Amino acid sequence: MSHFAKVTRVPGDPILGLLEAYRADPNPARLDLGVGVYKDVQGLTPIPRAVKLAEQRLVDTETTKSYVGSHGDALFAARLCELVLGVTSPLLADSRADATQTPGGTGALRLAAEFIAHCLPGKSIWLSDPTWPIHETLFAAAGVPIKHYPYVGADNRLDADAMFAMLGKIPQGDVVLLHACCHNPTGFDLDHDQWQRVLEIVRRRELLPLLDFAYQGLGDGLEEDAYSVRLLAERLPEVLITSSCSKNFGLYRDRVGALIVCAENADKLTDIRSQLALFARNLWSTPPAHGAEVVATILGDPELKNLWLDELDGMRGRIADLRIGLVEALRPHGLAERFAHIAIQRGMFSYTGLQAEQVRILREEHSIYLVSSGRANIAGLDGERLDHLAAAIARVCR
Ligand code: LMR
Repeated sequence: MSHFAKVTRVPGDPILGLLEAYRADPNPARLDLGVGVYKDVQGLTPIPRAVKLAEQRLVDTETTKSYVGSHGDALFAARLCELVLGVTSPLLADSRADATQTPGGTGALRLAAEFIAHCLPGKSIWLSDPTWPIHETLFAAAGVPIKHYPYVGADNRLDADAMFAMLGKIPQGDVVLLHACCHNPTGFDLDHDQWQRVLEIVRRRELLPLLDFAYQGLGDGLEEDAYSVRLLAERLPEVLITSSCSKNFGLYRDRVGALIVCAENADKLTDIRSQLALFARNLWSTPPAHGAEVVATILGDPELKNLWLDELDGMRGRIADLRIGLVEALRPHGLAERFAHIAIQRGMFSYTGLQAEQVRILREEHSIYLVSSGRANIAGLDGERLDHLAAAIARVCR
């Protein structure tokens, strides 16, 4: 008898599966616009110099590899809270917010999902349509009922009115997941007035916002990108925030993130954190220490922090240039108007509007890898190949 006889094969992850297919592709002209990693002009994902220097310092000074606690490194938590909520945040002054360190932003989402499933039973989570595919599977895996609100119209543009209309109908007390900036997969972000509308509706419907904040610093700037998070956290009694250091610190594989809880008062925060410690224990016991110590070292040292800020500015500037460059490269093909949205979207991703069949042809005939939804990781382009990509897009759009 085989214990495994009934185990069937399932399709690969829609994003990470692409990376494997790309790596196995022998075509030297292959182009990976799938998974959200930043690449420089040489097509490499560099380790920021600030990270290298912080790592060297840790190697020289680290005295133990003993476990960190359930909430992770307290110094990391304090510095990350300041980065996300602002140094002068009233929530921090009132001890109403704190971070639990998690393995990446995905770990933070899973911890939030466990919390919602067990401590807010019966509450659904509302996701934007479309959203990051792992939001769908992750909350389902934790047993949280999933619903959707519209985000993008049939014309492949942000449809904020449709979003507001649906948010206004969400049952009182449900959880609404909002992409704080650099919406994944679309790249369409709300402006300040639209965030004010979200705040009004969330307050009126007494919803719990969960802000997914995975791309701080890659949209309009480190502080600018925190606008939505700080607005909601300062005006509402209770907010959950999932933060990631994968992209902005280039620490992808070191898995650095946090779930930040903003509670009504310090006492309630302590209750919630006691629950999170237990969930974390069952999920991963204690979080990996290295990456979080790197972040804490950088944020705690003015020189390293300035170096990191410069490097982050460089990444953000390059992505903005690539967006404009791609639209320009499409111009000779008569496609600049059709793809003009690429230049106004923010963050790593563009919801190009290409259909699954066009994406398939790009992959099979041109070795260009996009997510089948038509999402392209603009940050994965190297500058030399805009014309190559534009020509391939023109061919599948004919
Ligand atoms: C992405 O959407 O490509 C990134 O968030 C990486 C991932 O884990 O999927």
